[in-house]
Amino acid sequence: MIISLVNQKGGVGKTTIAVNLANSLSEKGYSVVLVDADPQGSVLQWQSILNNHPFDVKHCPSASLLGDRKSLAKKTDHVIIDAPPAIGEITQAILAISDLAIVPIAPSPLDIWSSKETISLFPETRKRNHRMEAKLLICRKIVGTRVGKEAREALETYGMALFESEISQRVAFVEAMISGQSVLTYAPNSEAAREIRRLSKEII
Ligand SMILES: Nc1ncnc2c1ncn2[C@@H]1O[C@H](COP(=O)(O)OP(=O)(O)OP(=O)(O)O)[C@@H](O)[C@H]1O
Ligand SMILES: [Mg+2]
Repeated sequence: MIISLVNQKGGVGKTTIAVNLANSLSEKGYSVVLVDADPQGSVLQWQSILNNHPFDVKHCPSASLLGDRKSLAKKTDHVIIDAPPAIGEITQAILAISDLAIVPIAPSPLDIWSSKETISLFPETRKRNHRMEAKLLICRKIVGTRVGKEAREALETYGMALFESEISQRVAFVEAMISGQSVLTYAPNSEAAREIRRLSKEII
């Protein structure tokens, strides 16, 4: 399955989820390739800290480098693509080959509004890529507040699928990233790790 993390809005958690999801699917025994399609190269920087991950990382920061679905998904169970915060050619190329496009959205009106342009790409993309499913994911939710619930109600009016899983704002995500790990190895019994395992279970 080709799973992409897309949202033109920056800083919503695309890279954090891509890295942790790749680790979680590997932990479940799947072969995984993690594709850094962001010219910023954030995944590459994370990878270079430890460099002992149970999956390959490829840097494909342009539509032509990304290639087609067949060559990308060859000999691997899952490809995770971390998209840049843009809706240009590269993001459209990513959507054209995705089976599942995950749109992480922080639960604030500003973030919800600025994700609309990304979401508006989906109907057109589906005409060319019938297999693509798109799903919103509430991300960076502040624990102990009502904003997650309110965001869920607001997002339901979009008529798009929404993950039941939610990713909260947790320091373990930042600390794991700094140490070049995923939350699954950095803090295996943490709430952050549980949230990622729950998300990967829901995807599978
Ligand atoms: N669930 C989370 N809890 C705490 N911090 C988080 C969480 N998700 C992301 N962050 C932090 O927020 C910042 C932005 O996250 P990240 O780089 O994953 O977002 P992004 O959508 O990939 O950004 P960009 O659009 O610039 O590529 C980083 O400093 C990251 O460590
Ligand atoms: Mg990123």
